[in-house]
Amino acid sequence: MPIQIVLLPGDGIGPEIVAGAVRVLDRVAADSGFSLSYSEQLIGGIAIDQTGNPLPEATIAACRASDAILLGAVGGPKWDDPSAKTRPEVGLLGIRKALSLFANLRPIVPFDELLDASPLKREIIEGTDILFFRELTGDVYFGESGRSGSGAEETAYQQMVYSVSEVERVVRLAAAAARERRNHLTSVDKANVLEPSRLWRQVAQRVMTEEFPDVKYDVVLVDAMAMHLISRPRDFDVVVTANLFGDILTDEASMLPGSLGMLPSASLGADGPGLYEPIHGSAPDIAGKGIANPLATILAAAMLLRHSLGQTDAAVKVETAVRRVLADGLRTADIGGGADSLNTEQMVEAVLARLS
Ligand code: IPM
Ligand code: MG
Repeated sequence: MPIQIVLLPGDGIGPEIVAGAVRVLDRVAADSGFSLSYSEQLIGGIAIDQTGNPLPEATIAACRASDAILLGAVGGPKWDDPSAKTRPEVGLLGIRKALSLFANLRPIVPFDELLDASPLKREIIEGTDILFFRELTGDVYFGESGRSGSGAEETAYQQMVYSVSEVERVVRLAAAAARERRNHLTSVDKANVLEPSRLWRQVAQRVMTEEFPDVKYDVVLVDAMAMHLISRPRDFDVVVTANLFGDILTDEASMLPGSLGMLPSASLGADGPGLYEPIHGSAPDIAGKGIANPLATILAAAMLLRHSLGQTDAAVKVETAVRRVLADGLRTADIGGGADSLNTEQMVEAVLARLS
């Protein structure tokens, strides 16, 4: 049976970058002796336009039956009306929940070749290698919400909720990953103010003491973490945190490598397919121009090969090809290509040419 991959190109630059990553996947699969079959499905704004639903049932069913999912991006100004019945982002949150993708892995590793593309000083970022585990199916993201009252007295609320088992499972995955790296886990919370954070801290502490006594463990408050991330990023190895804190901290951390355009992510559950995507959004300002940087999506495809297909050699080949492209001085506009910038297609060709 060929391996089944669901493609969710989504909106904006999503279709362009996913098409590029598929070419890379096909080439590396052929070179490594396996084959992939694809089913393209709707999600986000395009799904709203075509079906009225940002996450059609057919998409969920195809994803459930697949080995892995590659997603481009969702959203754009066309669907931004705050009074609209639904939003593209509902599709993204929905697929995370439907597949119980509770752990979102976001590696933050600046490429040496791009150190000067970062707004931060080289001496600070050089040698940074952080793996974020962002909890992805709990928190205010999925808490009960509502509004009441009117006029100046109208109020809105959204509950922040975490259960013991939700914290345990993501902390376990993060701690196990730390063991394979530099054996250091940092848990980030806001336990000085928030009750769910106090539960998080208790559970994390217990899991670490009972199950991972060999892993160096510390706890940092999220506001302090925002500071440490850009003043001493080298001090962190694996970082585990809640959904909302992880959303914010990983965007901040993306500035360490200089461009959001280089960062992949993997969303994993206990079993079933994983979902892989670039961290960046749908970039509506450049959509359709063929100039988007496909490297984050290509690196997401490498994570797919590693985490869902167990094809470590193929993953390394792809990552090495990306490194070679950068070492050869090739750049898209977002990573400082200037007048010599490659477009999306040229960048994909450049990666393909360095695969073997
Ligand atoms: C992300 C994005 C999403 C999130 C949005 C698009 C809903 O910012 O994946 O980080 O907040 O989770
Ligand atoms: Mg985000």
